[in-house]
Amino acid sequence: MDLDYLLEQAKKAAQQAYSPYSGYRVGAALLCDNGSIYTGCNVENASYSLTICAERNAVFKAVSDGQRDFSAIAIYVDSEEIFPPCGACRQVLAEFNPRMQILYANRRGNVLSDLETLLPQAFNLQEDEPGNF
Ligand code: THU
Repeated sequence: MDLDYLLEQAKKAAQQAYSPYSGYRVGAALLCDNGSIYTGCNVENASYSLTICAERNAVFKAVSDGQRDFSAIAIYVDSEEIFPPCGACRQVLAEFNPRMQILYANRRGNVLSDLETLLPQAFNLQEDEPGNF
């Protein structure tokens, strides 16, 4: 799958953003191993903390639809500012693939990274992790 195409889908999804409070339009496009793509946008709320990010909306849509195997996510923010995914979204992505490719972009360009880089030593409930416990 062409990551440029995934980014185009994220860009389109950003147009659906409901963000009257921050003004930031964010879109995400999540690539499933079966080739399907799920998109999401940020949805804000007058009670600010109830806001949900674009990435988590995309993941929750996909999982609700029976998908659990993801290889990449593209995130677009319609802004000049750099915008890597927030910590909460990184943790939610790590639940499904701690090595997922992450392409994040704004109006000026994009950065290709992965979850191992953005969230090293992610929290999980496996007992086979190394350490002095
Ligand atoms: N936002 C996202 O959609 N994804 C992120 O990873 C970080 C933040 C949204 C939430 C809020 O609507 C706006 O960007 C400003 O924080």
